Amino acid sequence: MSQQIFVVTGANKGIGYGIVETLASTLNNAIIYLTARDESRGKSAVQKLEQSLGNKKKSEIRFHQLDIEDESSAKRFAEYLKKTHGEIDVLINNAGFAFKQDATESAEEQANVTIGINYYGTKKVSTQLVPLIKKGGRVVNVCSQAGVMIDMSKDKEMEKFKVMKDIYDEKHIQKLKNASSEKEIDEFVEEYKKAAKDDTRKEHGFPCSAYRVSKAAEIAYTLLLHRQHKDLTINACCPGYVNTDMSSGKGPLTIEQGADTPVYLATDSNAPNGEFVYQRKSIPWY
Ligand SMILES: NC(=O)c1ccc[n+]([C@@H]2O[C@H](COP(=O)([O-])OP(=O)(O)OC[C@H]3O[C@@H](n4cnc5c(N)ncnc54)[C@H](OP(=O)(O)O)[C@@H]3O)[C@@H](O)[C@H]2O)c1
Repeated sequence: MSQQIFVVTGANKGIGYGIVETLASTLNNAIIYLTARDESRGKSAVQKLEQSLGNKKKSEIRFHQLDIEDESSAKRFAEYLKKTHGEIDVLINNAGFAFKQDATESAEEQANVTIGINYYGTKKVSTQLVPLIKKGGRVVNVCSQAGVMIDMSKDKEMEKFKVMKDIYDEKHIQKLKNASSEKEIDEFVEEYKKAAKDDTRKEHGFPCSAYRVSKAAEIAYTLLLHRQHKDLTINACCPGYVNTDMSSGKGPLTIEQGADTPVYLATDSNAPNGEFVYQRKSIPWY
């Protein structure tokens, strides 16, 4: 059997790093691409993993540059993968970004940057790499419970995030849940970006947080991909609240625990298809 090829985005630290670590210590004879936008951060992460895993490493870890916001970077990587392997088995879109709660950037800037990375970036990579995935292969998009569109404020884990009390207008929920093209999801995020610029998010039925909107769009995009690629297994997930730079070290879960659901969806024969998954279980997102 040919070697399985895995690609993990944003893997120089945090949950992506944990995903590569788990894959490399559990899969036999696979090739795992640890990708990062910054070459030196990516290469040092590979080195660190090689050292820490030692002889627990059962698969090869390779670095490749990939800035998910940069279409030409995604194209170069796709061409390289095609030339080197022909096809790939699994794409894990993990790279993501969130402003801190006390960020001073304007709402417009926060919307542009956050949506540019989490939604448009994930789309740029998927547009280039999904066509290379062999029949029966998989896509896992690391989204977030912040992308859930229904009122989560009564949920035990979410109640601490007061931001989850802002709810969406029903028209936005209907648009994302039934999205039959990327255009519809693009329209949703562009409408939010305009409302953020004009400071009319509430009046237009949006929550305040650009991160929430970006992750709702990412979940909707994942499930659209699922409907478009019936020969692949494609899921969105939430890794839980994890101790990384993004959570300023506040998440109670380790990166290994955060990697659990993404790795399960990437490798387990019992994994679902076309779902939003948290702690290995499908949960509603609208
Ligand atoms: N931590 C949590 O509690 C939590 C909860 C729910 C969901 N998530 C999601 O889990 C994923 C990983 O988050 P994390 O907590 O591990 O965050 P993190 O520690 O901040 O790591 C984020 C990773 O994404 C990379 N990245 C950002 N923009 C990129 C770009 N344009 N191109 C390529 N890579 C880029 C970062 O690279 P640089 O080092 O170069 O910046 C870094 O490797 C994200 O999608 C996040 O939204 C996290």
